[in-house]
Amino acid sequence: MLKIGVLVSGRGSNLQAIIDSIEAGKVNAKIEIVVSDNPKALALERCRKHGIPYTTIEQKNHSSRKAFEEAIVKVLKEKGVELVVLAGFMRILSGHFLKHFPNRVINIHPSLIPAFQGLHAQEQAVKFGAKFSGCTVHIVDESVDAGPVIVQAVVPVLPEDTGETLAERILKWEHKILPQTIQWFAENRIKIDGRKVIVEGAKYGELPVNPALEIF
Ligand code: GAR
Repeated sequence: MLKIGVLVSGRGSNLQAIIDSIEAGKVNAKIEIVVSDNPKALALERCRKHGIPYTTIEQKNHSSRKAFEEAIVKVLKEKGVELVVLAGFMRILSGHFLKHFPNRVINIHPSLIPAFQGLHAQEQAVKFGAKFSGCTVHIVDESVDAGPVIVQAVVPVLPEDTGETLAERILKWEHKILPQTIQWFAENRIKIDGRKVIVEGAKYGELPVNPALEIF
């Protein structure tokens, strides 16, 4: 069973999707710890409800970003975490953090990266007039929302869309591609060659998710 640590900052709907997939037996992983940088995150309520260990580590209580990141690393290491999942974690992690978990930190982002990186990606897509957007799970490197792509799901952007309506459409796919990626890690099928990530044995070439989902 893959030991995972999930980093969150807010609502935690992606965390909920991971919890539900594990509880349904679709994902062979155990959430060893949830770390929030925000004590008021709704995600923590979800942890309490499901008996999942959690802790809050706030940047403002640390003298530097390095000290803040070291505090997170310490907790993750103590729990034996093998894969770090950023699920709506709204801070940028430095190379100092990443070197503790080489190629073992993943992030979900609500756009088809490299389009619309950073904050409010869905609103950016609507304002830009894009006709498709979607979501991405990628390996985290020192760039922001631009690390090697594992899987992407595509959705149409409609003329009447707002950032909110597009976000809702995208979120349904976030809740599938993130648990699916964790399961691929659990099955040891993620192979990384520079920027190119291949899921061994997965089916490539279909819409709307590439490579194709297996557990949903
Ligand atoms: C999700 O849409 C996630 O893709 C996004 O924040 C939201 C968190 O929702 N992440 C980013 O924009 C990262 N750059 P959640 O707390 O309900 O999972």
